[in-house]
Amino acid sequence: MPKSAAYRINTLAIAKNNMSATITIALSKGRIFKETLPLLEHAGIIPLDDPTTSRKLILDTNLDDVKLVVIRASDVPTFVEYGAADMGVTGKDVLVEYGGDGLYEPLDLKIARCRMMVAGPKDGVVDESRMRIATKYVETAKRYFAAQGQQVEIIKLYGAMELAPIVGLADRIVDVVDTGNTLKANGLVAMDHIADVSSRLIVNKASMKMKHERVKRYIDLIAEAVASKG
Ligand code: ATP
Ligand code: PRP
Repeated sequence: MPKSAAYRINTLAIAKNNMSATITIALSKGRIFKETLPLLEHAGIIPLDDPTTSRKLILDTNLDDVKLVVIRASDVPTFVEYGAADMGVTGKDVLVEYGGDGLYEPLDLKIARCRMMVAGPKDGVVDESRMRIATKYVETAKRYFAAQGQQVEIIKLYGAMELAPIVGLADRIVDVVDTGNTLKANGLVAMDHIADVSSRLIVNKASMKMKHERVKRYIDLIAEAVASKG
């Protein structure tokens, strides 16, 4: 997108958001929603709908001035950077892949913890000088292998990365690993550790200034909840 267009959208979104006194928090369904709920509750925020049963994309909460938007995990940084949401919760894997410095990241929520790994078949023989890597984390993989001085071909997938080596689409995958069960079930093993991953609270830069008192209060309350979990 040309910079001028991005700037215009950004200004529009921020302006629209700031006309209301609402604080909008962007989250994704599934594990992030589930694990963020207790943290929000500690901050006094309780959603009135359950995204697993509701088709609503904007969820009301017990507070008139706080709404939740439930979107794809990889869209959360975009909504927050452009001011369509004031705050958001997303994985460090998504943030690293998203890149840039257009967001504040004030808090490690220590939820949805996993590791970004290189994995492959247990006894696969590959030509290490020309490996094909399947991943949805294209930028992360590019950076990692460049830093290793290794030339690779990256194949972008949107899910089920573990299938790629089995069907001969790729030699290795780059994906997040938690228990290792998915790798094991597909005859793969973890090979190299790229980074530890957990979810982060992110904040729009303009909201941090213009809605400072409430945003800061929520950051502090959520930080308290994280600390109390140890
Ligand atoms: P999208 O819908 O954009 O493709 P996704 O399917 O990766 O996103 P989730 O599976 O809900 O969304 O994962 C959300 C976040 O949770 C990831 O970005 C990552 O930080 C973390 N995560 C992913 N898989 C695991 C796992 N197995 N265990 C713990 N945390 C995980
Ligand atoms: C993630 C990731 C792995 C799996 C790893 O998938 O893409 O496939 O978790 O977890 P494990 O090491 O505990 O097995 P997820 O469960 O989010 O499914 P999805 O990416 O298809 O949504």
